[in-house]
Amino acid sequence: MHAVGIVAAAGSGLRLGADLPKALVPLAGRPLVCWAVDTLRAGGVPTIVVAVPAAERAAFAAVLGPEVVLVDGGATRTASVRAALAAAGGGADVVLVHDAARPLTPPDVVARVLDALAAGADAVVPVLPVADTVVVVDDHDVVTDAVPRAPLRRVQTPQGFDRATLAAAYAGLADDAELTDDAAVVRAAGVAVVTVPGDERAAKVTVAHDLALAELQVRA
Ligand code: CTP
Ligand code: MG
Repeated sequence: MHAVGIVAAAGSGLRLGADLPKALVPLAGRPLVCWAVDTLRAGGVPTIVVAVPAAERAAFAAVLGPEVVLVDGGATRTASVRAALAAAGGGADVVLVHDAARPLTPPDVVARVLDALAAGADAVVPVLPVADTVVVVDDHDVVTDAVPRAPLRRVQTPQGFDRATLAAAYAGLADDAELTDDAAVVRAAGVAVVTVPGDERAAKVTVAHDLALAELQVRA
């Protein structure tokens, strides 16, 4: 099984509010995107395409070196992954799509996703249970309902796919479609998505507090 990795790194990181694109923000002195690429490599994915903000290509090339393929990302995550997928070529049988914003994902998670693909799954996501009570509120923020949490899962990356299945799902998606992850793209095409255990350490860096937690995690 030949795997290619895609790292979605073309976001600006508005909620983090740094003066750099989020994927270039340092964690323990190294840009988030470098950590994400290392995780894929350590988990067994040697070939990697990184979608980057078009205006920042040189900065990404400088930190990532010549071993990865860089492509210009788009205005949405969906557009960025679509561009990276086009550059990933037809040589691979499976694709793993990972967020640059999940720098401390343990390589074990990558290995679990690859194992599920090797066992025949067309689409795989790492997930975690929901610990908090989940409620629904009305327009006045008054609780109207509670959602049973037993069947709920939080979805992480890397997400793994049969390459042809993912390519066909993106080809069938409207040009301006905007979905939050790639499993949603294949689900829209009717593909079954299986789950494997995720890891709390694969948490996404979204706001400044998440970056502070990640710094603590590196030190621990
Ligand atoms: N991403 C991307 N292209 C985009 C938008 C997002 O490749 N046009 C990537 C981000 O770089 C990130 C991942 O998708 O690694 C998850 O997105 P998110 O955490 O929302 O990052 P940003 O979009 O950069 O942050 P924000 O929404 O706060 O601006
Ligand atoms: Mg975003």
